[in-house]
Amino acid sequence: MSFHVLFVSLFIDLFGFTISANIPSGIYYIGTDEPIFIADGEGPMFNVHLPSFEVDEAEVTNGEFSEFVSRTGYKTEAEHFGSSFVFKGQLSSRLFEEHHSVVLAAPWWVNIPGASWKHPEGINSTIKDKLHHPVVHVSWNDAAEYCKFKNKRLPTESEWEVACQGGKRKRLFPWGNKLLPKNQHMTNIWQGEFPEINTGDDGFLFTSPVKTYPANSYGLYDMTGNVWEWVEDWWSIERALDEETDVKYKKERVKKGGSFLCHKNSCYRYRCAARAHATPDSSASNLGFRCAKTTN
Ligand SMILES: *[C@@H]1O[C@H](CO)[C@@H](O)[C@H](O)[C@H]1NC(C)=O
Repeated sequence: MSFHVLFVSLFIDLFGFTISANIPSGIYYIGTDEPIFIADGEGPMFNVHLPSFEVDEAEVTNGEFSEFVSRTGYKTEAEHFGSSFVFKGQLSSRLFEEHHSVVLAAPWWVNIPGASWKHPEGINSTIKDKLHHPVVHVSWNDAAEYCKFKNKRLPTESEWEVACQGGKRKRLFPWGNKLLPKNQHMTNIWQGEFPEINTGDDGFLFTSPVKTYPANSYGLYDMTGNVWEWVEDWWSIERALDEETDVKYKKERVKKGGSFLCHKNSCYRYRCAARAHATPDSSASNLGFRCAKTTN
C-alpha cells in the first residue's frame, strides 16, 4: 500500500464517515405534468408508495472511492477499457488535438486513453487536490459494486426524485422553483455559452467539492448539478409503468440530476423530474453516484 493510499484511508477513517438522510415511508408525487423534454418521459406526475429508506447526503467522493479501492483492489470498467470520456474544456489543447472527438452529436466529448477515476483528465492528472470532489468515470456497474461493499445499493429513480424534492410536491429544483433565489447560486451548473464560454459564476468551471452549496430540506447536497448520478432503474420512457418485466428496456440505466456542464439552453436537466440514460458500462468526467438503503 502506497503512502498516498494509506494517508487517504486514515483520513477517511477519521473524518470521512458517510452521513445519510432518513426518508419516511409514504406516498410521494414524482414526475411532472409540465415536462420540458417530453421524449425523455419526464411526465406525467404520478404517485408512488415508498417504504422508508436512507440516502447518502452527498455524492461519493474521490476520497471515499480511494478507500474502497484500497480495501478491495477493485478495478473500474474505464480502467479495464483503458479510456473514458472527458469534456474537451478539461483537456490541455495538446491532448484535445491529439485525440479529437468521435461523438458526432456531442463533439465536446473526447475519449481519452488512461482517463479513469484516479486520472480524471487523462493519465497525467490526479485526484490529489480533489479528495472531496465527487468520483467520476465510474460506470453503473462500478457504482453498484461500491454501494454493495457499503451494504447499500443505488437509489431507485423514485427514491432519488423524492430525495431531490425534499419531500415537497412539484419542486423544480431541490431548493424550490427559482434558479437563483436572492441571486444566490444553489448548484454547480454551466454559466456562459455552452460549450465554448464557461464563466464559472457559481465558483467552479468543473466539479466542485461535495456540499459546497446549501442542502435541501432533507439535508441532501448536490442532488442536481455537480455530477450526474446513476440510479438503479433500467431506462424506459414509460416510467409510471412497472417496466421491470419487459426485457426490451433492459439496455440502459437512468441517470439523474444533470452536471456542471448543464446550461438551460443545452441541457436543462438540473431539475428533479429530468432524466437521461446511458449503457451500464459507460463513464465520463461528469457522471458519479450516491448510495441508498431500505430502512425499517
Ligand atoms: C505524461 O507525462 C509524461 C512525463 O512528463 C510525458 O512524457 C507524457 O507525454 C505525458 N502524457 C500525456 C498524455 O500528456
